[in-house]
Amino acid sequence: MTFWKNQPVPQTRNELEETNGLIREAVNISKNPCKLPVGMYWVSLDLTNETTLNEIYILLKNNYVADANETVRFDYSKDFLKWALSSPNLTLICGIKQFGNSNLISIITGTQEITKCKDVHVKVLAINFLCVHKNFRLHGITPLMIQEITRQANLHNILVATYTSGTFLPTPICTTKYWHRTLNSKNLLDFDFIPKLNLQELIKKMKLPSKVSTNGWRSIQITDSKQVCELLNKSKYKLQRIFETQDIEYLFKNIPKVISSYVVENNGIITDFGSFYQVSLHNLNKQNIISISYCYYYAHTTISLETLIQNLLIESNNQKCDVFNCLDIMDNVSFFENLKFDIGTGNLNYYLYNYGLGKCNPNDVGVIFL
Ligand SMILES: CC(C)(COP(=O)(O)OP(=O)(O)OC[C@H]1O[C@@H](n2cnc3c(N)ncnc32)[C@H](O)[C@@H]1OP(=O)(O)O)[C@@H](O)C(=O)NCCC(=O)NCCS
Repeated sequence: MTFWKNQPVPQTRNELEETNGLIREAVNISKNPCKLPVGMYWVSLDLTNETTLNEIYILLKNNYVADANETVRFDYSKDFLKWALSSPNLTLICGIKQFGNSNLISIITGTQEITKCKDVHVKVLAINFLCVHKNFRLHGITPLMIQEITRQANLHNILVATYTSGTFLPTPICTTKYWHRTLNSKNLLDFDFIPKLNLQELIKKMKLPSKVSTNGWRSIQITDSKQVCELLNKSKYKLQRIFETQDIEYLFKNIPKVISSYVVENNGIITDFGSFYQVSLHNLNKQNIISISYCYYYAHTTISLETLIQNLLIESNNQKCDVFNCLDIMDNVSFFENLKFDIGTGNLNYYLYNYGLGKCNPNDVGVIFL
């Protein structure tokens, strides 16, 4: 831990508990990018350019998060990347290339958000899609990427970052677990996502109603944004994303196979809201793909959380998703058993860079990464 030892993050559990608020101010922010090894150069990436979008897509498709044996890898579609990385808020996308070869070696991205840490609204950069090409790993490129995006964020007066990782770094504010709800039993068995079981029994057990029966349930419309924003910001988590109306308009606008958002409306009043996003997982040995829905933000006042999530399961199933994934954050533990979720093997650690908040329990966390 030579890089992380010198970063403004608590190094131990004790330090985590003792650190409160901003850890250090930004001083003498360099106007020049970090120095790279000979032969490499920085690129800032513009997603409105189709060639650039394709370069990022290919880097991630071939090198992003995989399991330990490299049998399965995430496949974030181009539409997904456009949605994730073109929000109206400031988005930084740093890349490295090599002279003489236009392929991307690595990227890191960050989007400006407001996160409530206890009672303080903090401007943060939410980090995502850190990826180093397989041929360039273990050469210290990650620390350079982190330093460069920190420098760029500091120039925009953003001093704090949020990020998640399955890897253990100093020091998680919270460790969360994935839970899975089977939708398409046959596809999940074929993919080896779930252990071999009696298929007919599983299909019967996981059967869902063909459509949602909640009165007033419908897809979100742009005119719902202000009310949805108010509903979401009423949540009371220790670590919580705070939205503005323009975030809702952008983030939750339905895009097929990317993001799906629903509301319950009664006489013009929006009382409940739920959403999920979709990512494909590629089995590299079998060459088959499953589609995963991830539980995204929600708020409920007239229907139970269990009914809201059941409705999202039905919508996911109708959109031909194979499995619905959830972390044990927010109030999610309350519906796992009744809605037939199974605990997964994956852990996800939550981190704060340059800010002390102490330790959180999973149900203190109301921030969701893509
Ligand atoms: C994660 C990944 C970027 C690390 O690259 P790498 O070449 O192994 O790392 P480098 O040799 O450049 O740098 C090593 C440093 O980065 C740190 N590091 C490793 N993974 C990290 C992560 N996800 N976030 C932040 N730092 C990380 C290491 O702890 C080490 O720092 P240390 O010396 O203080 O311990 C690379 O393995 C990768 O692209 N994996 C697939 C995509 C992925 O998992 N991305 C992370 C999603 S959270």
